[in-house]
Order: sequence, then C-alpha cells, then structure tokens
Amino acid sequence: MHTKRDFLSLFDVSDVELVQLVRRAEELRFLRQMREPHKTRPGRMLALVFEKASTRTRVSFEVAVAELGGHAVVLGRNDSQLGRGEPIKDTARVMARYCHGIMVRTFGHDRVGEFARYSSVPVINGLTDLLHPCQVLADLQTVYAHVARGATSPAGPAPDVLSALRSVRYAWVGDGNNMANTWIEAAGLLGLDLALACPKSFEPNAEVLTRARRTGQGKIQLTQDAREAVAGRHVLSTDVLASMGKEDEIEARRRAFAGYCLDGKLLATAAPAAVVLHCLPAHRGEEITDEVIEGPSSLVWQQAENRLHAQKALLEWLLP
Ligand code: CP
Ligand code: NVA
Repeated sequence: MHTKRDFLSLFDVSDVELVQLVRRAEELRFLRQMREPHKTRPGRMLALVFEKASTRTRVSFEVAVAELGGHAVVLGRNDSQLGRGEPIKDTARVMARYCHGIMVRTFGHDRVGEFARYSSVPVINGLTDLLHPCQVLADLQTVYAHVARGATSPAGPAPDVLSALRSVRYAWVGDGNNMANTWIEAAGLLGLDLALACPKSFEPNAEVLTRARRTGQGKIQLTQDAREAVAGRHVLSTDVLASMGKEDEIEARRRAFAGYCLDGKLLATAAPAAVVLHCLPAHRGEEITDEVIEGPSSLVWQQAENRLHAQKALLEWLLP
C-alpha cells in the first residue's frame, strides 16, 4: 500500500531523496529543452490553493502538472469557501476526494500542517510565513547545475549532486524569513556551509536553526555583519525586506536593513566568480541593486525557471 507523503518542509525528505529530486529536476530540464515529451503523470489532478499572491509558484505548478499530463485547479483567496471561514479540516477532506495532490500557499505554517493532517492525498507547502521548500529545491538545482557546468567538459560525466552542492560555501544576507529558514534546513540536511547575516530582531526561526544544527553535519553561522557572512563565499542569496503579510512594517525595516543591501561593493568581497540568487519578486535598491540582479553574477532567471523542473520532479515523487 502506498502511504502518502507531504512536502511541508525540506525535513519531510531525506538527504538521499533531496539529492534524487535535484538530479531528476535536471533530467526534466534537459527533456524539456530537447522537446521530449515527459507525460509521466497522466490524468493527475493538482489543486493549487493561494491565500497569498503569486506569479512563479502559480504558473510553474500549473505548467508543470500540465506538461506531466495532468491538470491543475487553481483557487485564489476569494475563490473558495475557505475565504468565508470554512474550516481547513473540511476543505482538505473534500478536496482530497477530487484531486491527487494539494498545494497550499498561506500565512501560518500550522495551516499547511492542518491541511496535511486531514488530506488523504499529498500536501505541498507553496510558501508559508515559516518556510518555502519548493523555492529552495529549485535553488539547489540551480547551484548544482552551475557547479556541474564549471566542473565538467561537455562530454564528461556530471558530478555527483551532493559533492557538487558541498563544494561551495553559501551566504544569506537580509531578513531571517521563510527563505532563510529553508536554506538553514537545506544546510542541516545536506551538510552545507552557510553563513547568515540578519539584523538584530530579524533573525531566523530559533527552532528551525536548532533542529538543523542538531540534524546535520552542516556548518551554520549567524552574524549581524553582512561583510563577515559574505567574505569569500560562492553563493549569495537575499530576499525582500518585508515578506507578504509584513508590508506595513516596511519603513521600520528599511531602517533596520541599512547595510544589508546586496550591492556591487558587497559582492566584490565574496569569492571570485560568486553567484547571486534571489527568489523574486525583487525590490531593486532595497535588498539588491539593479546592477547586481542584472549583472553577470546573477542566476535569478535560471533559478526562476528551475521552479518548473524541480516541481515536476516533486510531483513525480509525491503523486504515484
Ligand atoms: N519565488 C516565488 O515564490 O515567487 P511567487 O511569489 O511569484 O510565487
Ligand atoms: N519571503 C518572501 C518570498 C516571496 C516568494 C515572502 O514570503 O513574501
């Protein structure tokens, strides 16, 4: 009998499974590039529930499930009875009778947990206030592909995913938000070397940090000094100052995040040929400059594309 699995956090997969997902995501990228059909999940129905806005998550999931041969049902904030107070436990049980999987983007992480508890089909976290695992899955694919390109001749064998991901050192600069928390999970799970620079009172989630430090062989350092975090590192990530739901704090955040903008000067202190990631949407001139996001170090467009491939790999894994 198949037991359903959920993907609410990177800790819902093992290190081996995470590596397999990254490898399969790269295969799927290649298949699409070659225009090879890959309808591996015909007839599967995926519900996409959005309690927050989205561009990438919505479009990449909808295209992913269609290209795998299935179909997506998209529910925005005001499209379902959830917006009028129908309990999650009722919604989840009903939707699971129509669909083979449910992706949920929402505020409190407990809301996806409740969906998962009551749904008899896999539930995917499409972003909560705490975590954004689908994005970091695509980010890991992006880093792997970048390292692999540099490490091999076109004809040579692709390097092992785990060794490639461990061969570089990572930095996070900015808010200790859902993205920062998920990078911490990745570092714990895969044994990565990650330094985070976050202003005082904007640190990552303490429980996520403790769990990742306990679980992994990774080295996770926290500082308030952006230069210290970035010095000599190969992969630099940042994100908006005010995540969805925090928009009214923007003025206070602009003051607190002075000195945390990923600009050319900060980038120059990283390792030579360092690369820059940003999950988007970006606010140029706040957390990142136009020069950096549009510059040669930026992998952000490939990173955004990889949401499609990584989520196909995830759907193949979750929806038998
Ligand atoms: N990165 C990301 O999740 O983008 P959207 O908010 O547009 O889905
Ligand atoms: N941290 C951001 C990510 C957006 C994809 C937010 O939660 O709004």
